[in-house]
Amino acid sequence: MSQSSDIQQQLSELRELINQHNYRYYALDDPSVPDAEYDRLMRQLQQLEEEHPELISADSPTQRVGAEPLEGFSQIVHEVPMLSLDNAFSSEDMQDFDRRIKDRLGNDDDITYACEPKLDGIAVSLLYREGVLERGATRGDGAVGEDITHNVRTIPSIPLKLLGSGFPSVLEVRGEIYMPKAGFNALNERAREREEKLFVNPRNAAAGSLRQLDARITAERPLEMCCYSVGVVDGGDVASSHHDILYQLQSWGFRINGEMRLVVGIEACNQYYQELLMKRADLPYEIDGIVFKVDDLPLQQQLGFVAKAPRWAIAHKFPAEEEMTQLLGVDFQVGRTGAVTPVARLQPVFVGGVTVSNATLHNSDEIERLGVRVGDTVVVRRAGDVIPQVTKVLLDSRPEKTESIKFPQLCPVCDSPLERVEGEAVIRCTGGLLCDAQQKEAIKHFASRKAMDVDGLGDKLVEQLVDEKLIENAADLYALTAEQISGLERMGEKSAQNLIDALQKSKSTTLAKFLYSMGIREVGEATAVNLAKHYGSLPALQSASLEDLLEVEDVGPIVAKHISDFFANEHSQQLLDQLKAAGIHWDDVERPSNDELPLLGSTYVVTGTLSAMGRTEAKERLQALGAKVAGSVSKNTACVVAGPGAGSKLSKAQEFGIKVIDEEEFLALLDQYNG
Ligand code: IVH
Repeated sequence: MSQSSDIQQQLSELRELINQHNYRYYALDDPSVPDAEYDRLMRQLQQLEEEHPELISADSPTQRVGAEPLEGFSQIVHEVPMLSLDNAFSSEDMQDFDRRIKDRLGNDDDITYACEPKLDGIAVSLLYREGVLERGATRGDGAVGEDITHNVRTIPSIPLKLLGSGFPSVLEVRGEIYMPKAGFNALNERAREREEKLFVNPRNAAAGSLRQLDARITAERPLEMCCYSVGVVDGGDVASSHHDILYQLQSWGFRINGEMRLVVGIEACNQYYQELLMKRADLPYEIDGIVFKVDDLPLQQQLGFVAKAPRWAIAHKFPAEEEMTQLLGVDFQVGRTGAVTPVARLQPVFVGGVTVSNATLHNSDEIERLGVRVGDTVVVRRAGDVIPQVTKVLLDSRPEKTESIKFPQLCPVCDSPLERVEGEAVIRCTGGLLCDAQQKEAIKHFASRKAMDVDGLGDKLVEQLVDEKLIENAADLYALTAEQISGLERMGEKSAQNLIDALQKSKSTTLAKFLYSMGIREVGEATAVNLAKHYGSLPALQSASLEDLLEVEDVGPIVAKHISDFFANEHSQQLLDQLKAAGIHWDDVERPSNDELPLLGSTYVVTGTLSAMGRTEAKERLQALGAKVAGSVSKNTACVVAGPGAGSKLSKAQEFGIKVIDEEEFLALLDQYNG
């Protein structure tokens, strides 16, 4: 063999191998080698190509990013138009859709539907000739789009060359390019640090990234593509059902949606819709509804199209997560740690499934960034259980009279001066526990369910107790009498006695809950558990040095400093003494030996709903056996406990081949060690 064909051989083997790894990583979410090995192969290929530039081909994995920006975008005509979908907004609309299909087919048999999330991104078309990516284009108006080949080439989940065999010689693949939530948040976080303009939502970020003339910018954006149909097919065939086509696409190197399901009948479609609605917030990408498609291609053909949408598909929309409304004013709220948060008072608006009349404006930098004024029309976003936020001002609809928003100089509650720590965005009240607002928030936190769990002591009641000067701190709660409580508005003798009983009951707690209830900055539930486990008793923790604290899992220098400041503070010491005198107690955690921690070293993930206990308890029980409990599934997860309603975490575990146990097996596991 000549030297050059030998090198050619080496190059194609390397490219093939890298493409395979790429596919496992980006299309299947199932990496086959560690990142370091992948990087090594890439460097090897780069080096070989540098030595033999004449052998570089456009479909080589090194050639994703071009060197020079384009002058402009050229237009392309879609040979097969890219259609849109009709929308359904209720299960009745879905019944009607199903009815129309059956009537048109003249057959009352249940239809098999393919259900898949409606990704909120940008629709694109990819054209492959002889298995090589030739052109990428936006949907545009469905008939004419823009050529974005240079940009789609940079997206790692889009194959430059198809894998496997059996694909038609001309194949147009369609799908959605989107930015996953995590990538979007990281991108905005970086933009915020650099004081650059933020993206309003992942969809806009994806659109903006594809609209770049310079592909080097696109290459840095965390974009993915998920494929959902084919367009032009020539010189070969594709399968005769929608779901089979998707699996074919997957085998040729594309990413398809792991949530895709086949169901029979419209009732099952509505059930799938409800399931995904529950999962919506946990999915790693944004979706705005579910697309239902008649699965059988001959049936699709029989049904045909109306205007610009097929009769055989429909999008059942989720409640919108963004709406516009008026900003009526801004209140400044003081939190537990003194942080002053501007809160937008809004003309009530229905968004994300609830009526919203307040939304956070975060801090003064954010107000400046948004350029928002009272009277403006703003976009409010409420995604999942995240607190509603103002994300944008619609300047085109700015009325003539608007007012600027002035951040107060003094604490709006206690008049203490406000301070801004260098390098931090938050402005804090310096009043400490002398500030009524901080006092109230600290007591609410103390009484909350995951802290001391004082049943029946809600936010309103805490506010009344402080306002009536009956209590100043958490320890004062335990000195309250039934008479004092029953004298309050809307409290009778019975509810007063109930509260006294609940307070009594709360006195018996655990060290972890007690530590959490102190509201030490940055000490959440998990850190409190780690501290309790590590030190076993309060005195041991109190006498720990900063270096000592750094030994505790998840405790870094900042948290360590907050903990040590807390215990050094005179007010905290008094509070601790007072609480002890009131009779708060717990059993010191005996630091178990390793053989009492049978799950030491394994990471568990709990997902879905369990009937015997909440997820918090499940987590604590696992931690008590030495397990680490993580919030997301990774290669390091040992086992996933999955109750009904488990979503993406379960599918990820299944994809990774990680052990999954149901509630029954989980309870048996606990029994086995505790029995
Ligand atoms: S199918 C003929 N499937 O929704 C059917 N569309 O209003 C063509 N979309 O422009 C579309 N996820 O951008 C289909 N799983 C999915 C989708 C999806 C998102 C978008 C797509 C299209 C729009 C239709």
